[in-house]
Amino acid sequence: MDTQIIGHRTPRVDGEFKLTGRADYAVDWQAQNMLYGYPVPASIAHGALEKLHLDAARAMPGVVDVFHHGHFPRLYRSPNSPTHQDQVSEVRLPFEDERIHYDGQYIALVVAESFEQARAAAHAVQADYRQESGVIATLLDTDQEGRLLESEGTSRGDPEKAFDEAPVKIDHTYHIAAESHMQMEVHATLAEWRDERLIVHESSQGVVYQHKAMARIFGLPDESVEVVSHYIGSGFGNKLFMWPHAVATAGAAQMLGRPVKTILPRQQDMENGGNRPASRQRLRLAADRDGTLLSMLHDSTTETSFVHSYVDSLGSATPSLYACDNVAISQRLLEVHHGTPCPMRGPGETSGIYALETALDELAAELEMDPLELRRRNYADQDPASELPWSSKHLDDCYTGAAKRFGWERRDPTPGAMRDGDEIIGWGMATASWPGLRMPCAARVELRDDGSVLAACGTQDIGTGTYTIVAQTVAELSGVALKDIEVRLGESTLPAGPLSGGSMVTATALPAVAAALRNAFDALKEVATGEGGAFEGIDPESLEIEGGALKDGQGKRVSFGEILSEQKLGSVNGEGQAASGDEKGQYSFRSFGAHFVEVRWDPGISRLRVARVVSSIDIGRAINPSAARNQVEGSIVMGIGMALTEKLDYDPRDARLINNNYADYIVPCHADMPEIDVELPDNPDYAFNEFGARGVGEIGLTGIAAAIGNAVYHATGKRIRDLPITLEKVMDT
Ligand code: MOS
Repeated sequence: MDTQIIGHRTPRVDGEFKLTGRADYAVDWQAQNMLYGYPVPASIAHGALEKLHLDAARAMPGVVDVFHHGHFPRLYRSPNSPTHQDQVSEVRLPFEDERIHYDGQYIALVVAESFEQARAAAHAVQADYRQESGVIATLLDTDQEGRLLESEGTSRGDPEKAFDEAPVKIDHTYHIAAESHMQMEVHATLAEWRDERLIVHESSQGVVYQHKAMARIFGLPDESVEVVSHYIGSGFGNKLFMWPHAVATAGAAQMLGRPVKTILPRQQDMENGGNRPASRQRLRLAADRDGTLLSMLHDSTTETSFVHSYVDSLGSATPSLYACDNVAISQRLLEVHHGTPCPMRGPGETSGIYALETALDELAAELEMDPLELRRRNYADQDPASELPWSSKHLDDCYTGAAKRFGWERRDPTPGAMRDGDEIIGWGMATASWPGLRMPCAARVELRDDGSVLAACGTQDIGTGTYTIVAQTVAELSGVALKDIEVRLGESTLPAGPLSGGSMVTATALPAVAAALRNAFDALKEVATGEGGAFEGIDPESLEIEGGALKDGQGKRVSFGEILSEQKLGSVNGEGQAASGDEKGQYSFRSFGAHFVEVRWDPGISRLRVARVVSSIDIGRAINPSAARNQVEGSIVMGIGMALTEKLDYDPRDARLINNNYADYIVPCHADMPEIDVELPDNPDYAFNEFGARGVGEIGLTGIAAAIGNAVYHATGKRIRDLPITLEKVMDT
């Protein structure tokens, strides 16, 4: 496709709204007569609530009510079904009983006239607990195995036998601490009941899902719930599915007959709003002396809470990444006493690929082979898991291009051999990968008599640029200027669109928008060729779309707006549907890339820095290369945090979260930024969709922590197998 707008670096169409403060985030909404909710968190992690002391809080200024077990509407649990799109982050309802399963679990919701009054009164609530023993803070503190999830296991060949008989092998266990999403905008809900209808403003990555879950929980027909999420200060997965604060807020609003807004403080956001679960992974890799992989065994355990089974599928990428005849994946799940985990950017594969790509580096060292050469040696020309051809794979070009720009051929393989003054330089690399995902999607387009176009879809812009790429698509296909295109997203009443997750919105929503636009063109042509129309009597098929106008074979052009206004019509509409992609099951869809990292370790002052990252990520066609590159750059920053600093610290004695704030939970800041060089080779994947795009939100985070860890090994000779690689683990002691 020869494109004018798609594939070009269009500035964000919503940039001005964000910069001028007019973008309406959930917390910005006000309702008439609105109250504020503030949750009261439990201060134990395991036991039961014996008594709540509420008199002091109730007597404080502005306090309207305090909700808790025994004083809350009777609600239903949501079935939590992916097929019925009513998934929630925690199936247990707030205030369902008096059991306490984790530190911070809500035991009450104070509602007051102002935010400050609600917060002050929440702090005045006292509780008596019955604490129970046997607390497990995290799987990092225990050698309990967890229960085996048969459904997550896969295998091919005879991996155990091949491993036992192989000449070269490694067998190591890797740990990753739980991480927090640390999205800028905290979770927030404004719930308002108008007659029997519930209207919710939420910072949500899935308005369609949340509206269905709310409907199930409050026993309402779907049509009686509306969820709005116009702008999101990111989420990284913790806003995919609704959390209990939203249910508590809607229940309080129902009982009081007034709108209630709840904004979680950062502490509660971190305790109750999701996390990437800690994990333990055993990797057994075996190879022939020439580096040919003979066996891969990947056994994982992840955490979940006692109130919800969240499975982070760590082994899901492993069977597809390398050509190897003997592969086995297993996964276990262990309940621990901290807040419920949930998807976090590249869920499962980010942690799984960390372990796999670190293990491959260890195998390369064992083989005395270049780590890049080992990957090339085992290149998978088709998907070894499904045995289907890839729709499009150019990982070899990513390896070559990034290695060249990085200067990989100058790498001295001996750990610690490359120096620059006081600093030891370490170079490491890893493969990145994320599946190409698409879901069914609907959209609507309206062509209007003023020449403008409206495109609407019930998906969201999590901050990645969905508003912009939908506008680009409409502009590309219609020739209407970007300024005359309005995009509406983030409303559950719009045609149903996907979660802003799985890096799937681009590939999912754009074909539906295009289908809707084409149907709108057909409606317009019908008007234009009908009685009194600008092209009366002409075959509609012969009309072309050009520059926001219809054009016939004689070169006559009439703009969309003129065609409509001449006929006294305000607009014509088109509805569009797009399916989930490859209905025939002909291809395997997956994106690949490569990261090359330089770290600098100054042993004299124990300073470890990521100095340079070169990445080449093949995502098919980037609809907007600026926005796409920005996703990879952001992922690299997030990967530095995962590799070096980020860890949710649970007190092993009582499973309480210690570092529940931005000061003590360390994320990379500007001073930590390396030189980042991201290449997005342009290889449109037209087998996946007509725009050739596979999506980009998550792939950049996969592999980056491994590349950093591999570089740390190359600098220091120390193989640190648990993330984050904090300084005390690197220092000579
Ligand atoms: Mo992403 S973890 O699919 O929001």
